[in-house]
Amino acid sequence: MPQPDLRRHPIIAGNWKMNKTADEAMDLVEEMIDDLDVVEGATIVLCPPFVALYPLVDLVEQSSIMLGAQNMYYEEAGAYTGEISPVMVADLCDYVILGHSERRQYFGESDADVNKKVKLAFKHSLIPIMCVGETLAQREAGETERVVGSQLRLGLEGVPPHQAREMVIAYEPIWAIGTGHAATPQDANATIGYLRQQLRELYSAVVSGAARILYGGSVTAANVRDLMNQPELDGALVGGASLKPDDFVRICAVTAELKGIR
Ligand code: 13P
Repeated sequence: MPQPDLRRHPIIAGNWKMNKTADEAMDLVEEMIDDLDVVEGATIVLCPPFVALYPLVDLVEQSSIMLGAQNMYYEEAGAYTGEISPVMVADLCDYVILGHSERRQYFGESDADVNKKVKLAFKHSLIPIMCVGETLAQREAGETERVVGSQLRLGLEGVPPHQAREMVIAYEPIWAIGTGHAATPQDANATIGYLRQQLRELYSAVVSGAARILYGGSVTAANVRDLMNQPELDGALVGGASLKPDDFVRICAVTAELKGIR
């Protein structure tokens, strides 16, 4: 009998944050789409601003590139001026970043909000990329595991195992985001290993063995190889470097080379 393939499929997601108009987004993707399309064995997800999603759907349709949103609201429709519902997101893409530290920090998102969003994302067949990460002060106080463990547990409250195993978690230490100071590969590996152990305790070995856990925070073409050489990392959530075509292509190619499933 053939054995099931239990290896985790790596993911590289580009979080463009609040950058690029729709036209600029088209230009950027046109510049890298052919090179990204030939990367094998890893899933590449582009997460542009909402208004660029619609034109990009057509552009990436014939390629292997997936789209994701950077956020969504936790209601399906109604009088929520300025918000975007999961129904709208699911109409255009397959992934959604939830609970990014910038949303927690600048827009007051709580773990309870993130949890509502995670559940609603699954309801609409979206794969959540749920972000967790500690501040510098928390790290220096030795609280990293407590903080990320709590974010993980509260974000997944009430999420059943068959959905939890589909989760993508992104460990993004806040002090590493946009600073040029990535976590050391060993530290990233240790915290991601801790998160995986928490998944095992919360659910099972099956769930912890299946969920993808990414590292994010100043990932570059220069440091991606050392990071991806660590066994617990299943890919990367990339900010600034995802806006530079050559760098992003390299990050995707190296990740696929080291982790790709063929
Ligand atoms: P940088 O790669 O720019 O540090 O951003 C990381 C991030 O926040 C991705 O979500």
